[in-house]
Amino acid sequence: MSAHHKMDTKQPDVLADMAQGIVGTAAPRRDGPLKVSGQAQYAAEFGDGSEAVGVLVRATVVKGKVTQIDEQALRAMPGVLAVITDERLLRNPAQGTANEAPVQGPRDVAYFGQPIALVVAETFEQARHAAQSAQVSYSAQAGATDPDDPDAVIDRPDGKQTEQGDIDAAMSQAHASVDAVYTTPSQNSAAMEPHASLAQWEGDKLTLYGSYQMLKYNRNELADALGIDAENVRVLALYVGGGFGSKLGIAPEAVAAAIAAKELERPVRVVMTRAQVFETTMRRSGTRQRLRLAADAQGNLTAIGHDATVSNLPGEAFSEPVALATHFLYAGKNRAYSHQIARIHRTCAGSMRAPGEAVGMLALENAMDELAHETGIDPVDLRLRNIPDVHPENGKEFSSRRFADCLTEGAQRFGWEKRNATPGQNREGEWLIGHGMASAARGNILSEAKARVILNPDATVVVETDMTDIGTGTYTILAQIAAELLGLPLDDVTVKLGDTDLPPGAGSGGSWGASSVGSAVFLACQSLRGDVAEMLGARASDLTLKDGMATSGNVRKKLSALLSETLTATGHIEPGDTSEVVQHAGFGAHFAEVAVNAVTGETRVRRMLGVFSAGRILNVQTATSQCHGGMIFGIGAALTEDLVHDQRDGHVVNHNLAEYHVPVNLDVPQLDVVFFEERDEWANPIQSKGVGELGISGAGAAVTNAIFNATGVRVRDYPATLDKIIPDLPDP
Ligand code: MOS
Repeated sequence: MSAHHKMDTKQPDVLADMAQGIVGTAAPRRDGPLKVSGQAQYAAEFGDGSEAVGVLVRATVVKGKVTQIDEQALRAMPGVLAVITDERLLRNPAQGTANEAPVQGPRDVAYFGQPIALVVAETFEQARHAAQSAQVSYSAQAGATDPDDPDAVIDRPDGKQTEQGDIDAAMSQAHASVDAVYTTPSQNSAAMEPHASLAQWEGDKLTLYGSYQMLKYNRNELADALGIDAENVRVLALYVGGGFGSKLGIAPEAVAAAIAAKELERPVRVVMTRAQVFETTMRRSGTRQRLRLAADAQGNLTAIGHDATVSNLPGEAFSEPVALATHFLYAGKNRAYSHQIARIHRTCAGSMRAPGEAVGMLALENAMDELAHETGIDPVDLRLRNIPDVHPENGKEFSSRRFADCLTEGAQRFGWEKRNATPGQNREGEWLIGHGMASAARGNILSEAKARVILNPDATVVVETDMTDIGTGTYTILAQIAAELLGLPLDDVTVKLGDTDLPPGAGSGGSWGASSVGSAVFLACQSLRGDVAEMLGARASDLTLKDGMATSGNVRKKLSALLSETLTATGHIEPGDTSEVVQHAGFGAHFAEVAVNAVTGETRVRRMLGVFSAGRILNVQTATSQCHGGMIFGIGAALTEDLVHDQRDGHVVNHNLAEYHVPVNLDVPQLDVVFFEERDEWANPIQSKGVGELGISGAGAAVTNAIFNATGVRVRDYPATLDKIIPDLPDP
């Protein structure tokens, strides 16, 4: 059986009628015990020990062509089995561009650190030694490495400015206005598990154990890179130690491992070092953002302008969409946007957690705080006043939106009214204390997904899809949905993920995973409920499935007694045209308390509250964890994260976790997360919205706004390291 649904209309809240109430509960992560006990197998841990080991050789010039690699000398080194310089390796398998022509020609180098060869040896040490000894000749060229470099070509992909009304007039007539430039640096996803692949062939069939997020696409990308049919490629990623976007598309080690394994007729494992992760996997683009805000005397916005410059390699399609939330978050008649891409020779820029909003809202929400200060209107109030009735640019209704509740309730829970609105007034010894807030918003997406649900005669259930769980809780919430719909204990549901032999799920990306593949599971279970009702001689609408019992009217039977054979159903959800009717997004608000040292300028976040509405929350614990993660990312963006490129050759200077500073435990205070449940009937059949990326959106701006409140220092150049704070600190 199969059940297909295209989201063209509002959907009723079917889950509300379910008998068990498992969906939404804080069911513990099923992968948790496996991970802490070392039983969860990650990509690099597969294999039987017969694998050869590959280490990537990488370019040491910013731009040019590889003219020669001393392959013979390398092959003569101890343990070396192969040197792979296949031109298929020398292209850039960028995120999600599987079917586009490769950006680079064979042997072209576009950035320092780009993989140019793979050395394969019996042991890792041998392969590493040989890779480090590789003598490579280049015909090198100069290349711009910085957006401000005069040689950097500036692309204006959308033509030029898009404008509604007259922003210049509105700015000049404003009661109060902000016109400021904010900058954010390159960042790296810095997932715990480095990118890793183990490739093995059986004849023409390739199996790749990889650390990837979107297997149905990754399979196509890999096939495309190798020039083979996707049917001959199987990708597995049973557990993924974080991705945050860096594993949306295949990375060079996957292609390299596959080519080497074919050549050697032996499985090959390639694991990136931490430095390679920083230098050769997707970076988040640095951004330069000019924000213009104009308001009348009551604080009503009359104009919003968001002009951005981001960067990427020449020819790459992705560009950080920083103005995403600016388009719909606030009212304001006059609006203008521009977006340009500086073509520079740094590591390819791609998606990293909440591409767009994560850094766009650092600028927008910082600017809103500036406007609040200018107008003397409370920052929460200013935002409340400017919530638009409908999408301010296209007039669409919002599908569901508890934004105002998040702002007002959040303020109340945080104790916002105790804040001193005048900066620099709140001092405890040598610490200046401040409070800041910011809005959160992140577009909600539904992505096509399939899932198979198998109901066995003993009333146990298996859910199957190639969806991944990248630490988000997919294994757990899919079990919750199936258990709920089929009226069974959670433990009777097995969830199988991360294998392209299973029905294609949505992949973990864009915060659509849980809603999309969860809807596919829902549809499959609905179909099975129909079968069960029929067997019971009841109508599906009269069927109650609870605690393993099927009930309809006076008829009550044990499900396992009712079932005589295995029932299977595949659910298939597809986006329809609801997003042409309504604007889908999750909303929220962040509140932060910081202490800034009056002598050293060091900032410590003392507490943080995030209040969110994202449709039905499928598991309050995993959703809370997602928001914790997002808020921690926000702390990193606000205070420490900065992928530093050497101006001379663009190489990443701080290519390790000692020098690329993500927040560690001591940097993260008490984080409180509150959800305002809502049902989004336009979003999908389970009425949930994306939550993974909502938590980062705006989070960092709450921190820098709190720094301003603490010190009177407005940092517009992220991250707010102490060198940017000290010069303007008030006299101690
Ligand atoms: Mo996300 S940046 O779509 O993993």
